[in-house]
Amino acid sequence: MTGKRILLIVSGGIAAFKALELIRLLRRQNYAVTCLLTANGARFVTPLSLQALSESKVYTDLFSLTDESEMGHIQLSRSADLVVVAPATADILAKMAAGLADDLASTVLLATDKPVLVAPAMNVRMWLHPATLANMAMLAGRGVSVVGPVEGAMACNEFGFGRLVEPPVILAAIERLLVPNAQPLAGRHALVTSGPTHEPIDPVRYIANRSSGQQGHAIASALAALGARVTLVRGPVGIPDPVGVTVRAVETAREMLDACRTALPADVAVFAAAVADWHVENRSAGKIKKLAGAAPPGLTLVPNPDILATIAAPGPDRPRLVVGFAAETDDLMANAQAKLRRKNADWIVANDVSPATGIMGGPDNAVHIVSAAGVESWPRLAKGDVGRRLADRIAEALGR
Ligand code: C5P
Repeated sequence: MTGKRILLIVSGGIAAFKALELIRLLRRQNYAVTCLLTANGARFVTPLSLQALSESKVYTDLFSLTDESEMGHIQLSRSADLVVVAPATADILAKMAAGLADDLASTVLLATDKPVLVAPAMNVRMWLHPATLANMAMLAGRGVSVVGPVEGAMACNEFGFGRLVEPPVILAAIERLLVPNAQPLAGRHALVTSGPTHEPIDPVRYIANRSSGQQGHAIASALAALGARVTLVRGPVGIPDPVGVTVRAVETAREMLDACRTALPADVAVFAAAVADWHVENRSAGKIKKLAGAAPPGLTLVPNPDILATIAAPGPDRPRLVVGFAAETDDLMANAQAKLRRKNADWIVANDVSPATGIMGGPDNAVHIVSAAGVESWPRLAKGDVGRRLADRIAEALGR
């Protein structure tokens, strides 16, 4: 999902800090986020934090002539695809139910013609109060969607229903509302490898490569967003694990193969990892000493298992769709086509990783999808978009 716009209303309460994490998750999925902070919300989070994370102007209750001339409250209320109130206090829910419009947030909520999702957060007594329950029933009757609250310990030392749901749960609710048919991979299991492998020389040194894991992680996220259960087997990377996927962290190629085998069966497997081709046979148990005058140590390299070729080999556990990558600096297409046959893959995603392209470790990718049916070249796209496009194609192929 790209380009969808969220108007996020942050009302008061100790849970307001979780709005920051929600914004981060939304931005990571390429949603445009505009924040509206109530006066009480501003006691818990600052407009500056919301602005920095959303990369967009933050609206507050302070009356501003410039705001009104730039974007009036009516326009603001209609500028998004979805209005999300998180956290939603008992007070703002009561205002919504009663149709009050005495501040910017309640005015926008009364003026909007867009779907509204609320994520309540309050003390358990307040949540269970007949007034709040009646308000919630009224809002539900008007088509307002609700996510949470959940049961748990509260900041006020009580226990019960009233805790704000975690930001990934709010994100999932947002995705369900904006893309009702966005789960074509529901019930499918996807296996994805990502990142480099580290092959130890001794306890402190290893052989590695420049893979950042960005492309593999983006594919895992995109498959999860389409409803797949995703197992991401990843080597050591410096980027955060995607939300909503099961992560198996490994170091070496042999560990990666074991983790992949354990994850089977899968409907689709995408091998985006930059697996080291060799490991050091004469790996030292202790740190190799640098001795004055002595020759440098000799390393004996032996081949690693080819994970893609192993999992793609014919057999009962072979995923229905196996996708490999070919990162090449020369003869891209010829190498990709040879790899398709040699590794028994269904598709090879080929990309030119010559240093001049800036693709290895960079934010973009320009790929060609090579299959028995031919070659399809995609324009240069952000790695997130390549992931989403590939996930869509996978959904299409598995749907047939
Ligand atoms: O042979 P080459 O390394 O170019 O093949 C790239 C493809 O094979 C990628 O999909 C990569 O993840 C996979 N591969 C693998 N195990 C290896 C080497 C490569 O799964 N040992």
